[in-house]
Amino acid sequence: MCLPGSSTASFNIKRLIWFNCRGMTCFFFTCKKRDTSAKQIIQKHGDIPGVENVRIYTYKELRSATEDFCLTNKIGEGGFGSVFKGKLKDGTVVAIKVLSSESRQGVREFLNELTVISSIVHENLVTLYGCCVEGDHRILVYNYLENNSLAQTLLGGGRSDIQFSWRTRCKICIGVARGLAFLHEEVRPHIVHRDIKASNILLDKDLTPKISDFGLAKLLPANMTHVSTRVAGTIGYLAPEYAVRGQLTRRADIYSFGVLLLEIVSGRCNTNTRLPYEDQFLLERTWTLYERGELVRIVDTSLNDDFDAEEACRFLRVGLVCTQDNPKLRPSMSTVVKMMTGEKKVDLEITKPGLISDFMDLKVRNHKKAGEENASLGLTPLEGSSLSSGSSTHATVSFTAITDRSGMSFNQQIKEKN
Ligand SMILES: Nc1ncnc2c1ncn2[C@@H]1O[C@H](COP(=O)(O)OP(=O)(O)O)[C@@H](O)[C@H]1O
Ligand SMILES: [Mg+2]
Repeated sequence: MCLPGSSTASFNIKRLIWFNCRGMTCFFFTCKKRDTSAKQIIQKHGDIPGVENVRIYTYKELRSATEDFCLTNKIGEGGFGSVFKGKLKDGTVVAIKVLSSESRQGVREFLNELTVISSIVHENLVTLYGCCVEGDHRILVYNYLENNSLAQTLLGGGRSDIQFSWRTRCKICIGVARGLAFLHEEVRPHIVHRDIKASNILLDKDLTPKISDFGLAKLLPANMTHVSTRVAGTIGYLAPEYAVRGQLTRRADIYSFGVLLLEIVSGRCNTNTRLPYEDQFLLERTWTLYERGELVRIVDTSLNDDFDAEEACRFLRVGLVCTQDNPKLRPSMSTVVKMMTGEKKVDLEITKPGLISDFMDLKVRNHKKAGEENASLGLTPLEGSSLSSGSSTHATVSFTAITDRSGMSFNQQIKEKN
């Protein structure tokens, strides 16, 4: 079954009749009109600085690249919509992200944001090639990354053949830290990613990590967040002050990075309700082991002791420094890079991590109260069930519902406060 489904079929039939009636001249006329539409868009919005560097694709071009958005070419579904693998006419393999219908922005606003995103180039960030803004379509075209995301490989429960040696993990951790430091400290105005998580860390053929989805938050209307209620936005990555009070700063990203770092070193998802009681939350578990002076025990056993223990414990301590409850105590990303490479000492005193479960009194083990808590969080029974069912390693949460509780408007929430 291919998208956009039956409407495509009827469109094709109509076009066929049209061609049969009027012959080839009309066919060429139609093609020409489509090809010039990209140029017209650029001309119309030529005053947007840098817009000439954004490649505008026609819908037809992307349809043919994905074999009519065929489901066999679908590689993922996230908070923004569906992602397809495609091959452009010149042979370039791309990832095509079809933004969901709720995320329709005016052409001008959309191009404005895209111009900013596509001008950001760094070894550890996914490259945006261009977009399609034809009619109602809002589609992004990215560099395709061969080795999928960390969520599907390292944390995918053995479904991948990639061997994540200790050296590979170091390269990934430091690469992600550098990419995020670039967004936070070198891009002007700086960019808060808002959704640092394993599925947004893509790997190229050499396993170089590339952060995806930066700068996308502004492509959504104000009443919608990219941490969708439909898709697993994992509560474990969210800094408590962001999740509960809507305070969005670079330090919320740093918290998420800290959680990701623990995941990469331990080879475990941040939340796994199938594990024994005291092991379910990776951050809590790491903190407990840190306090006991047994940090090394959280390192991935699949490494078979083939790792640098001093370095691994340093990374884990950096993860804990990044997830401290007080956002002000979390280091900047450039400092994090220095701590990871050993150029700077990791703080001797690390304070307790901020745990969203403390705020919400949201303990997976508290089965009895689960119903009430789901209600207070704005979770539907289905969403809430992933917190307590034991069948999922991701806790899905209605993020909008949490921020609504703070009484803040979305625009207030996205104002940078640091
Ligand atoms: N540039 C890309 N190259 C390869 N795969 C990609 C690319 N972008 C996205 N994907 C795949 O599509 C999936 C869905 O992506 P996305 O819509 O961003 O949702 P999420 O980040 O929530 O997983 C990703 O998890 C990844 O597996
Ligand atoms: Mg993504």
